[in-house]
Amino acid sequence: MFATAFPAAEATSQVPHDLLAAISALKNDLNAVILAHYYQEPDIQDIADYIGDSLGLSRQAAATQAEVIVFAGVHFMAETAKILNPNKLVLLPDLEAGCSLADSCPPDAFAAFKAAHPDHLVISYINCTAEIKAMSDIICTSSNAVKIVEQVPVDQPIIFAPDQNLGRYVMAQTGREMLLWQGSCIVHETFSERKLLELKLQHPEAIVIAHPECQSTILRHSEFVGSTTALLTYTQENAAPAFIVATEAGILHQMQKQAPHKQYIPAPPEGICACNECPYMRLNTLEKLYWAMRTLSPEISLATDLCTAARQPIERMLAMSA
Ligand code: 13P
Ligand code: SF4
Repeated sequence: MFATAFPAAEATSQVPHDLLAAISALKNDLNAVILAHYYQEPDIQDIADYIGDSLGLSRQAAATQAEVIVFAGVHFMAETAKILNPNKLVLLPDLEAGCSLADSCPPDAFAAFKAAHPDHLVISYINCTAEIKAMSDIICTSSNAVKIVEQVPVDQPIIFAPDQNLGRYVMAQTGREMLLWQGSCIVHETFSERKLLELKLQHPEAIVIAHPECQSTILRHSEFVGSTTALLTYTQENAAPAFIVATEAGILHQMQKQAPHKQYIPAPPEGICACNECPYMRLNTLEKLYWAMRTLSPEISLATDLCTAARQPIERMLAMSA
């Protein structure tokens, strides 16, 4: 399948001096593409072939001609790439890179919840496991959730899972009632309303922007709410000199790169911590990415029937948000 055969990880223990050159050479040898989320560390963002939000990454995964997909993100994202490309090798630098939101929706409990509401259509946020996707009718991301819910007939009851904060935001935007699974993200629930208000007073020139995974206590003080890509575009297009950014702090790297003359202030977490950095996303490092490509592991593997069942709701999402 691949142009070059590689020794097992144990056969070599040295990271090359020029890691970037080594990754680039492996990319050519493997016919690989590196897809990265905005929450990855800056080094990884800078070497990626494509950086994007969950919708952009899914679109890239669906369209890629590469033989190997190296996913610099978390497990559910790499899993989505595998679901869309069951015959390709999908590598995730660290298999422990999970997601608190995906973990907040265990398949058994969700199956019982769904069974208790058989007349409901299930719309699931992409931040969920393949098992939850397979139980869903349509997948959505933070950038198309409103658009997708708006396309559902008004008399059709909806279960929205797993993120209750995104669900509440979509209900407010669409005026639709939905039955919400009570999941959430530890990173986006970390922001402090009190500290945000203090920060706003210190920076009256700054506009507050937020990801819809944040709680309503943060969203109600935000002038703009959107996915990571939408937040990035907003900071480029809006004339304001400064932005208070309520999402994972990794996005600030691209904001600084795209419009370096502006100021980007991370929204403050409740405690004295780096809680606005996703601990799962940050498990990936440039070194682990190199080793994943060098050893062709760890890879994402999924049972064929699970892949098939999970693909349909993702493809529905891609068609509905074209
Ligand atoms: P988006 O990629 O849709 O902006 O969502 C961010 C996120 O929480 C990824 O885990
Ligand atoms: Fe999951 Fe939250 Fe991390 Fe996104 S930021 S991957 S939702 S834990």
